[in-house]
Amino acid sequence: MGQESPEPRESDDSQDFASMIDFHPYRDRFEPHHRIPPEPRSRESILAELGAMAEEEDRMGDAGRVSGSIYHGGHDHYRFLTEAYGLFAHVNVLQRDMYPSATKLEGEIVAMTASLLHGGAVSEHHPGEEVCGVVTFGGTESLINPMLVYRERGRVEKGIDAPEVIIPVTAHVALQKAAHMLGIKLLQAPVRDDWRADVDWMRDHVTPNTVAIVGSAGNYPHGLIDPIEEMSALALEHDLGFHVDGCMGGFILPWAERLGYPIPTFDFRLPGVTSISADTHKFGYALKGTSVLLYRNSTLRRYQYFSYPDWPGGIYMSPGLSGSRSGGVVAAAWAAMLSLGEQGYLEIAERIFETAATILTGVAAIPELEVFGDPTFIIAFRGRGIDIYHVNDFLISKGWRLNALQLPPGLHFCVTRPNTADGVAEAFVADLRDAVEYAKTPGLGPARSGALYGLGGSPEGNEALDMLFAAALDAMYDVVP
Ligand SMILES: Cc1ncc(COP(=O)(O)O)c(C=O)c1O
Repeated sequence: MGQESPEPRESDDSQDFASMIDFHPYRDRFEPHHRIPPEPRSRESILAELGAMAEEEDRMGDAGRVSGSIYHGGHDHYRFLTEAYGLFAHVNVLQRDMYPSATKLEGEIVAMTASLLHGGAVSEHHPGEEVCGVVTFGGTESLINPMLVYRERGRVEKGIDAPEVIIPVTAHVALQKAAHMLGIKLLQAPVRDDWRADVDWMRDHVTPNTVAIVGSAGNYPHGLIDPIEEMSALALEHDLGFHVDGCMGGFILPWAERLGYPIPTFDFRLPGVTSISADTHKFGYALKGTSVLLYRNSTLRRYQYFSYPDWPGGIYMSPGLSGSRSGGVVAAAWAAMLSLGEQGYLEIAERIFETAATILTGVAAIPELEVFGDPTFIIAFRGRGIDIYHVNDFLISKGWRLNALQLPPGLHFCVTRPNTADGVAEAFVADLRDAVEYAKTPGLGPARSGALYGLGGSPEGNEALDMLFAAALDAMYDVVP
């Protein structure tokens, strides 16, 4: 077992959360600014300060020991995207008269994504309909907008004024945010033994107020692809909206399918699918700040448009949640897609799937661990007779950054390009074996990385968590006190 295993802990103090993240590591090195400096500072010194922080913060991602988060990781790739970004960073893509390039770039990003997700199949099962879409600021907007669309479609076309949407319990939490903002009642379907959505439960819970269902390809917790084909049939049966959340998988699963991996169909080839989200800023390898949201037809897309003709500021219209948006991230996403080409995406997907297979084999060989379902590029697992958060504590001490899951407790490793470097998967499996041995040490005390999870699940616990989270969010905006 490794030498530097974490110190066992005595107490279970959830306040430790605040001390788990140091929001101000630079307090003693760089001057804090509480007001705009009276005199301008030199560009050199500004760039030197930013450069020092960036270099330090990139070290972890560059080491290839991070799950998800950094999807491409190539600094040469980022330099190229930043050059593209720089040309349009100051541009507001809403102002098409000044910046007609935005129409070309966004239209082509949407078209390329629609083609990847078999938008062309729509005319076969729904003649006269044609896939269209929008570019959004990220996965969250790509989930909020379709919820608005289905609420509005329900209201306008069916007179539904108490809309309900059924999602799997494993669907992304941004849908909870959407429901919270839009006044939608969410019903959470449990998962089956294979950890994928229970479609029978969904069918049993469709009511006259149901406006849509959601499935993931794959979902964030376990990376699994819900039974999208069955859900497509359910959506058709009841004329429901059916959003497929491909924010995570939309830009990697299609390449895996082309490489011959057994990926179940989850896109517009299925006749019940009415919208799909796919994040360019994840496996599209673009810069942060873009995602694509596709609809099966333009009638659906119109429900997310907003216009207000009677405003003293002029006639206003915008396509979705965002107002002004930078053209920089749009140019970078377009540049990423063209510069990688199908060949580039396929090469990276091949390496990611091979790395994921090595990790899966390693995890599956450890009797104290159990893999969630039948994974693709996200390997999620939980403990058998050990506290998985102790495993995480040990992995953290070795520089790994996995994602902690709950309900039930688990960890996931979302494999991205930096993890495909030689030896990373093997090193992870070796450290994981040691981590499991560490977790079996008697008398360890509560796990550090599990400090928060014990709190949830009861009204009092959730209230305590709410307060902790609010304090943490407040702290994120503090200048060094
Ligand atoms: C499946 C899924 N959907 C939606 C999102 C939300 O994306 P974003 O963080 O870009 O808002 C994520 C983020 O990880 C995701 O994994």
